[in-house]
Amino acid sequence: MSVSTDVGSTSQRLLPARAVPEDLDAHLAGFGPRPHLEAVAMLDALDASGLRGRGGADFPTGVKWRAVREHTGRGGDAVVVANAAECEPASFKDRFLLTYRPHLVLDGLEHAAEAVGARRVVIYTTKSHTDVEAALRAAIRERRRRDDSDRFIDVLVGPNRYVAGEETALVSRVSGHLAKPKVVPPRPFQSGVDHLPTLVQNVETLAHAALIARFGAPWFRSVGTERSPGTALLTVSGAVRTPGVLEAACDTTVGDIVDRAGGVDGEPATVLLGGYFGRWVAADRIWNKTIDALSLQSVGASLGTGVLLVATATTCGISETDRVLTFLASQTAGQCGPCHVGLPAIAETFHKVATGRARPAAIDLLVRWSHDIRGRGACRHPDGAMLFLASAMEVFAADLRHHLKNGSCRYSGQRPLLPIPATDAGWW
Ligand SMILES: Cc1cc2nc3c(=O)[nH]c(=O)nc-3n(C[C@H](O)[C@H](O)[C@H](O)COP(=O)(O)O)c2cc1C
Ligand code: SF4
Repeated sequence: MSVSTDVGSTSQRLLPARAVPEDLDAHLAGFGPRPHLEAVAMLDALDASGLRGRGGADFPTGVKWRAVREHTGRGGDAVVVANAAECEPASFKDRFLLTYRPHLVLDGLEHAAEAVGARRVVIYTTKSHTDVEAALRAAIRERRRRDDSDRFIDVLVGPNRYVAGEETALVSRVSGHLAKPKVVPPRPFQSGVDHLPTLVQNVETLAHAALIARFGAPWFRSVGTERSPGTALLTVSGAVRTPGVLEAACDTTVGDIVDRAGGVDGEPATVLLGGYFGRWVAADRIWNKTIDALSLQSVGASLGTGVLLVATATTCGISETDRVLTFLASQTAGQCGPCHVGLPAIAETFHKVATGRARPAAIDLLVRWSHDIRGRGACRHPDGAMLFLASAMEVFAADLRHHLKNGSCRYSGQRPLLPIPATDAGWW
């Protein structure tokens, strides 16, 4: 993986111009000290900026900070948790940001704590991200030595499981319990870590907030679109020549982003956008679309976790989907029937279709089941998995019928394109 070095570009905000991790001296030399904003000014700036969460849900950040602050007002204390779990296998953006610019995220965390009135501040990462954990601990030590912060920022490590980064799972782990999602309401902003109002925010979102505090909402809005202002971090991979993490203004087209990643090795056929809760889209439908929410919505896609994975016609979309579905089914927290029982049944049926061991009716069954289990889990795990499946069944419809009849295709024996990580057995 590489880091984009787009020196001086207005679309290069979160990532440093040179791919060198920034210590506190370099951070202060580049950005100056963190400004001290009154809570009201910070919240107003966030609202005016139009910043939305970069952890997948695209929720307005200002609205969330206000909701936590309102609840803090009733009880007097709150908790802020930076979500650095990055459990999405095809995403590296959060780890990149934390490796190269940890202090920007820590600045954002401190702004968040001040704005919502939190005494406890935690960064939650995952067991397998040991390098990130070390970088964070070193950055926190640097700040404490400087006495730049009187706030104790804790680093907490959760299990390496897909759903352990979901906000209620993370709240449960930070409260000392298993990292399994919980039924909502109450949502974390109402009652989260140790029953206190809790702000859970993706680390990229926090870094944007730190820049907004320094440079203001109009600066943030000077790139991107009205609905999706600013820039976004993307993990570009698959059949591109220079896979890596890059930052792009939200009015950049998919084609331009792929060009910045060295272009495609072959003819692009499909794009997986948003990660394993995202959608497959035919390349010719999405190539000229900008990555802002409205533009992507017009082809049924969303930026999700910022994963942009390009596949060529020599990639077997059915084998790839088969492997991902099996992985997602294995990641259920086992608490809700439709997810615990439904996902493995769907993955198994898809596998039978993919390997030519099913009747034609299995395809209709898959379509029905994929609708039946949506909205029936405590968290969005089954919904995300089913959106991924539905897009595969649409984009690779002809291939699916071919597999049903023949059990494979000329590309199904190729080296897998989509990563499937090893995960922990436990939830601690
Ligand atoms: C199954 C599942 C896994 C998730 N994993 C992550 C994750 O690894 N990192 C993350 O930032 N958000 C993850 N989320 C989203 C969080 O629940 C939450 O919406 C997010 O951290 C909020 O931050 P944001 O508003 O800045 O996006 C996940 C959601 C679901 C449903
Ligand atoms: S929907 Fe699945 S992953 Fe989410 S809480 Fe229920 S069993 Fe766990």
